[in-house]
Amino acid sequence: GHSFPTYTREDVKKHKTLADRVWVTYGGEVFDITDFVELHPGGDRILFAAGGALEPFWALYGVHKSEHVLEILQEYKVGVLDPNDKEEVPDLSDPYSQDPSRHPVLKVNSAKPFNAEPPPEILTERYITPNELFFKRNHLPVPNINPDEYQLTIDGPHGTNQEAPLKLSLNDLKTKFPRHEVIVTLQCAGNRRSEMSAVKPVKGLDWGIAAISNARWAGALLRDVLLDAGYTEDTPKALHVHFEGLDKDLTGTKYGASISFQRAMNKQNEVLLAYEMNGEPIPRDHGFPLRVIVPGVVGARNVKWLGQISVSTEESSSHWQQNDYKGFNPCIDWDTVDFKSSPSIQELPVQSAITEPKAGQTVTPDSDDKVTVKGYAWSGDGREIVRVDVSLDGGKTWNVAELYGEKQKERQSWAWKLWKLEASLPTEDKEVTIICKAVDSSYNVQPDTVAPIWNLRGVLNNAWHRVHVSVHR
Ligand code: HEM
Ligand code: MTE
Repeated sequence: GHSFPTYTREDVKKHKTLADRVWVTYGGEVFDITDFVELHPGGDRILFAAGGALEPFWALYGVHKSEHVLEILQEYKVGVLDPNDKEEVPDLSDPYSQDPSRHPVLKVNSAKPFNAEPPPEILTERYITPNELFFKRNHLPVPNINPDEYQLTIDGPHGTNQEAPLKLSLNDLKTKFPRHEVIVTLQCAGNRRSEMSAVKPVKGLDWGIAAISNARWAGALLRDVLLDAGYTEDTPKALHVHFEGLDKDLTGTKYGASISFQRAMNKQNEVLLAYEMNGEPIPRDHGFPLRVIVPGVVGARNVKWLGQISVSTEESSSHWQQNDYKGFNPCIDWDTVDFKSSPSIQELPVQSAITEPKAGQTVTPDSDDKVTVKGYAWSGDGREIVRVDVSLDGGKTWNVAELYGEKQKERQSWAWKLWKLEASLPTEDKEVTIICKAVDSSYNVQPDTVAPIWNLRGVLNNAWHRVHVSVHR
């Protein structure tokens, strides 16, 4: 037989573009797929794997599990991977060396701590976001927790016979309380921050439109656990429930946040101590072995790696509750800001964004002169999305998009709706602005531009989403 040259992963990494030729690896072999890119039935998504391994992508798209696909791939073989090319040795002095590995498709906004979002067009391919694609927002290194030794501490109500803290193992949480399942969308307050920085620079990670994802969570209701710890609806001075994470900075300060006691105790809010995400134990990046899920509420209160729960007359004193995740008037700057003057963000406002086509893309209308526009829409506090309006002419005329997603109960619509519109481009223009805006069940609407809602921290951007594209007819 034919003997193939040997390449390292570094060699393969140099071939990421059509200009440099596109190489991929699969099971220890190297392929130059440049000439197949145009023939690929799945379109240019194939380029996400350029310069790396196919396995993590084919795990997402089952159509590739066939002899037929492997036969095509073999036609493009150019080499084998060097068997001595070892994985990098972790640097144990680095506090992030124990972080888990992540899917290569994620766009990394910060590596340490790890913050990343999926490509928008891949995000809205599925109603439920697979765990490996779910956006990741960590402030600190991911703690390494042994599930067999794990204990959740819940401080008891003061001045009662249950004052001693309640300690629950993971097994207690799974067996002593009914398992409750709910589909909840999480969104970071900083989602779409990059559009805010385009108006005027802000402090914060440069999130695009995908710091939002949807999953099926399962766990014990926080209400049931609080009742077990001795609290009732009328426990005196019980106003806020504090959550403390097991992730800590170099000084030992842990991540923390709080929600109102009333939100936690009201059954309808379905606040969860979740141990499962999409049918699997919660992955390490998302809070293994236990996290809080507060449906309808900003990501920041959904504390991961939960170590301790306590109840107080005051909100959490954590930096992330007091001096971050708050909105301000657009004229407030870092010299004039008084964090005490604004409430902490809890329920989020109505939101939507266009995930396809992408900004700057050239779109080719089909034979009926139509293009497909796709996106997501979501609102906080369980308000259902009732309509998404889409304009293909910069806002002169509007179409109504088709909504997809599971029907949830009234005032418990915790999950997003995906939407799609096939519409004609109404003008002969070569440059077109596509816009979307959503309406929720309270008839809340999105503001039309970013500037009037600009704030120094770059949070709460829910302005109409605009995408400029070139039309190729
Ligand atoms: C579909 C080949 C890489 C995404 C397909 C199909 C083939 C194929 C033959 C049609 C399967 C069928 O319907 O029976 C390949 C080869 C690849 C590759 C040879 C690598 C050299 C990728 C990558 C991605 C991807 C990296 C994603 C990042 C898709 C999608 C479809 C598809 C989404 C479904 C298209 C549809 O049903 O409309 N691919 N693929 N492929 N591929 Fe790939
Ligand atoms: N919990 C802990 N313990 N530490 C954190 O850094 N980040 C918060 C929240 N819970 C965080 C946390 C923020 S700001 C968000 S947006 C969500 O987790 C992100 O959850 P995800 O990484 O599962 O998407």
